[in-house]
Amino acid sequence: MNVKVYKDAQAIGEAAASIFAGQVIAKPDSILGLATGSSPIPTYTRLIELHKQGILDFSQVTTFNLDEYLGLTHDHPQSYYYFMQENLFQGINVPQENIHVPCGTAQDIDNEGKNYDNMIAQAGGIDVQILGIGNNGHIAFNEPCDEFPMGTHKVALTQSTIEANTRFFENSDEVPRYAISMGIGSIMKARQIILVATGAAKAQAVYGMVKGPVTPQCPASVLQLHPNVTVFADEAAASLL
Ligand code: GLP
Repeated sequence: MNVKVYKDAQAIGEAAASIFAGQVIAKPDSILGLATGSSPIPTYTRLIELHKQGILDFSQVTTFNLDEYLGLTHDHPQSYYYFMQENLFQGINVPQENIHVPCGTAQDIDNEGKNYDNMIAQAGGIDVQILGIGNNGHIAFNEPCDEFPMGTHKVALTQSTIEANTRFFENSDEVPRYAISMGIGSIMKARQIILVATGAAKAQAVYGMVKGPVTPQCPASVLQLHPNVTVFADEAAASLL
């Protein structure tokens, strides 16, 4: 695991965006794995800039997002589908039909999960996956638990995640209690992974991910076993390393 420390979120965004940019330039029909949360926003802002400057063309790119809240429709402002439209897709030229976000309103979530993993496999697998990290070490919505979950699946959010994500809703009662998330197995299949982390609140999770034992109690620690992971952190997030 390669850890790179930058001065602020903007510098991290530029560095992480350059990994995606290199990928898309080398392989215009790349399969990109995308994440929500505040951490990837500067990366997406930079990708939009590079597209507007005529440097990046996303017309052949396919995207797969990590996760979605259960029960929120695409037009709900806190759905991850909506977030992606607002923060990335409306600023670049990826065709709408190439965009995939797990469906949080599917009747049969188990089936939706299986189909989602099959779609990723049929597309050829993810070339580069960006991740954030939760304060408790979660990646996507894989919460601390006793066993690493493999495929895309339904998850119950922990109290810590509900509290952390309340800032996006009117109050904590509005935060969905369940989500659909790519599993640890789905994430580990990506050929390259970049993880972005900023702020002191992430320091413990970053320490567990990089230096702690590999354990589902800190889901991000599994990334120690992946051959091509780069962590982009600011000084506060990297302060315990
Ligand atoms: C949510 C998302 C994660 C994200 C995490 C951290 O729980 N499901 O993918 O990494 O939040 O978000 P932030 O980057 O806003 O701290």
